[in-house]
Amino acid sequence: MNDIVLPAIGDGEDKSSPLKNRIRKNYRHLRKWARRTETDCFRVYDRDIKEYPLAIDFYAGRFSVQYFSSSREEAEAPPELVEEVDGILGAIFQIGPDMIYWRSRIRRRKMEQYEKKGERKEFFTVREYGAAFKVNLQDYLDTGLFLDHRETRRMVASLSKGKRVLNLFAYTCSFSIHAALAGAAFTKSVDLSNTYTEWGRENFLLNALPLENNPIVRADCLKFLEKEASSRYDVIIIDPPTISRSKKMEDMFDIQKDYPFLIEQSLKLLSENGVIFFSTNSRKFALDTSLFPGCQFRDISEKTIPIDFHQKKIHRCWTITQ
Ligand SMILES: C[S@@+](CC[C@H](N)C(=O)[O-])C[C@H]1O[C@@H](n2cnc3c(N)ncnc32)[C@H](O)[C@@H]1O
Repeated sequence: MNDIVLPAIGDGEDKSSPLKNRIRKNYRHLRKWARRTETDCFRVYDRDIKEYPLAIDFYAGRFSVQYFSSSREEAEAPPELVEEVDGILGAIFQIGPDMIYWRSRIRRRKMEQYEKKGERKEFFTVREYGAAFKVNLQDYLDTGLFLDHRETRRMVASLSKGKRVLNLFAYTCSFSIHAALAGAAFTKSVDLSNTYTEWGRENFLLNALPLENNPIVRADCLKFLEKEASSRYDVIIIDPPTISRSKKMEDMFDIQKDYPFLIEQSLKLLSENGVIFFSTNSRKFALDTSLFPGCQFRDISEKTIPIDFHQKKIHRCWTITQ
């Protein structure tokens, strides 16, 4: 399977542009690893230089660029910066600005209300450790694949052979797909959104995985967990949003308020020797392990942050066993 997109680039240094040099260096370094691991989506720049507060992600020849503004007034990247970055990526990778997608916060805010923009739908396929995923850098709030959990997905996959796996807040089912490809006997993916459950289904088909033993359920995870009482799982993934509002939910979801219930209910579904992977992107989140006597919590955050992520606080992750 060698349809990964990893253009070769030159190594000439440009003394006038530290940003250009850094992106080139990062990409050249990662490309070797990417070829070896059949991966063509990764971060090529992660706020490495203070003057350039950007995250730039490579997705099979296209780029998703995020600007981290220091002030509320100036939420969007200044036009000179957009021009500079477009020019740099264009020069290194021989591409036009149509391959570069700036993630705008104003658009994000709008899309939070509508979930998707709707008109143009630009889907394409990327690979991660050999698995295929549909992504879209243009039409949705996020791309379809959260790159910061690449190593967590690999860890889950390594434990999944012959196992039953439950993926809560599954989004586009990337954890379940890695588990299924690694030989899971059964996976179940749960998410509230029609759009993402459908996207997940397409990801399963893209990887030629049968849906019969990989069902996808559209449900509120909090309600789902109450009803699922009679099933047992060997691996349970809980990777929820920090907060979430939806018409389909009675109350707002808030990780700090809702995590004890999520973990408590998941523990009831966990088989003997089973393991829960619990993760959050919330910087403020505080975990109180004393709420779960008899459980072992292991902070595996350091192991789950990928090599291309230089901001190490992107997420925190624990395994929970009992
Ligand atoms: C941060 S993403 C989860 C990322 C995902 N675990 C992954 O690996 O790609 C948040 C997801 O949670 C879903 N969601 C939000 N509130 C939910 C709820 N109460 N029950 C089920 N899914 C929910 C959203 O639709 C969205 O797909």
